[in-house]
Amino acid sequence: MSGVIGYVGNKAAKPFLLQGLNKLEYRGYDSAGICEFDDQLNVYKTKGRLSELNKIVEDKDLKGTIGIGHTAWVTHGAPTTENAEPQLSSDGSIAVVSDGIIENAQQLKSQLLEAGYSFTSESAAEVIAHLIENNYQADLLQAVQATVKVLQGSYAILVLSAKHPQEIIAAKSESPLVIGIGSNENYCASDVQALLDYTREVYILQDGECARITKDHIELFDQAGFIKDLQTEYIEWDQVQVEKDGYEHFMLKEIHEQPKGVRETIANRLDSSGQLNLAEEIPPELVKGINKIQFIACGTAYHACLYGKYLLEQFLDIPVEAEYASEYRYNRVKADQNTLLIVLSQSGETADTLGAMRVAQDKGARVLAVTNVISSTLAREADAVMLTHAGPEIAVASTKAYTAQLACLCLIAIYISQQLNGVVDQELLTGLRMIPEQIQKVLHDCEPIVQEYANRYATATDAFFLGRGIDYLSAMEGQLKLKETSYIHGEALPGGELKHGTMALIAPGVQVVGLATQKVLLDKIISNLQEVKARGGEILIIAMDQDFDYSNAGNQTIFIPEVHPLLAPMLSVVPMQLLAYYTTKAKGLDVDKPRNLVKSVTVE
Ligand code: AGP
Repeated sequence: MSGVIGYVGNKAAKPFLLQGLNKLEYRGYDSAGICEFDDQLNVYKTKGRLSELNKIVEDKDLKGTIGIGHTAWVTHGAPTTENAEPQLSSDGSIAVVSDGIIENAQQLKSQLLEAGYSFTSESAAEVIAHLIENNYQADLLQAVQATVKVLQGSYAILVLSAKHPQEIIAAKSESPLVIGIGSNENYCASDVQALLDYTREVYILQDGECARITKDHIELFDQAGFIKDLQTEYIEWDQVQVEKDGYEHFMLKEIHEQPKGVRETIANRLDSSGQLNLAEEIPPELVKGINKIQFIACGTAYHACLYGKYLLEQFLDIPVEAEYASEYRYNRVKADQNTLLIVLSQSGETADTLGAMRVAQDKGARVLAVTNVISSTLAREADAVMLTHAGPEIAVASTKAYTAQLACLCLIAIYISQQLNGVVDQELLTGLRMIPEQIQKVLHDCEPIVQEYANRYATATDAFFLGRGIDYLSAMEGQLKLKETSYIHGEALPGGELKHGTMALIAPGVQVVGLATQKVLLDKIISNLQEVKARGGEILIIAMDQDFDYSNAGNQTIFIPEVHPLLAPMLSVVPMQLLAYYTTKAKGLDVDKPRNLVKSVTVE
């Protein structure tokens, strides 16, 4: 995920670019850079945080009145200065900044290499810059329009050329890009919050559109290249609302960002024929010859580990274990050079998780990290890293990082099965590609139902989450979400365990969530729920099979789309996330910052 910014006007561009990047820093901080035109293109960029860039340019009297800037979470290659943006064309006359994931970047780069171009980075933006140069005749806009036609995937790009120093060309598809209208100056940025200190009159570029932006004019072109009326809008939001993209809380925003997070996590890891291409991120030698797999993590990431364990146990006969990192690190650790340790952490900074990893490493284990932050300690110390591309997760309660972790683990399980057994579960892989739009459908269908149902929880003191098989793992995540945001005591248990004690707690009005997505266990879990209902429990069922009669097993049933049973957890968690959110909201509590909790537990 990246942030782009652009300015053209009568004043020096530098202050606007730096302030705008500061507003966009939440979108990424592995690298940052700016390019201004002042007789020539001047590029200043660095890996690391924006503060590093500020040190480079703070004593430079940059007079250029047109410029572009970029801050990034690197998705291709390492966070180095060479890979930072802006990137230049081979003749140095065109500068490009970009957001998004160009799925065919490698293929386009090969074509350019064959055409004689050379590269100085692994950045997709450099591929775009060379393509624009290759397409340039005399009109920069036309060169950009010809270029974006061959890009596959998501992009938001800003282009500045020494041959056209009065204009910035903007183009987008799927990744956000906003134009701000000023007086004798105009702006563009990845999102509105970078513009609000300068203007509230904006135009949100639509997919496939391009714009030529000068200091006193904006020309808008549709996907076919025809000019369009510029119909601007006025932003009423205040700064804080804008950071939440109009959502009341970051948690709700991030719940709704899950389709994008899973889509971007999968992108690039399936080639155009839908086959896995993970060998760059997970070298085959990391997996070859292993005789045991261990998962370690904390909290929500641990629940994702349980999913990874469950999947791998379907494919492999070697032992697959999962343990809380805080327990693992002080137990007798049985790991060696033939153990693959898979470590999950959204932040990549959780103290117990890092501590446990180091214990395993001391015993020779090979470490594969799954994290959302490429520049994290975990990413640096692991032998291999597979990034989730959920984007920055601000709310303390993890939501989009969790589903992105599940998507990652699904790919990893299929990859390890392919490496060790030569078998690829094609049905699972095909089903995974559909998950982003199915999460979107669950959000659309169930949010109003859950929002109303959550009122039942406003006075609840306890809630039980029941499931069998893979549904039990989802139940564990559901109870944590409710517990950590609404302060209601949540407890997950296998449906079959009810009779062994917990049923004593079921009484009229007790809230229960029943996960019933697994056809092979449906009769069993429904029988458990009927016993709960017979004792007055109030039950929200999350199910998949719409032909089944749930009426005497629950008070409300939410259906998720029919998917491969092993993919159900990516969908069934969404209603539980929403239940936690709306219950907490109904209780008037601080959704994004629950008491006693922090986003990343960097101490033991
Ligand atoms: C999740 O909602 C919690 N905020 C917490 O359990 C979290 O998952 C845990 O602290 C692990 O964090 P990490 O993924 O950054 O390592």
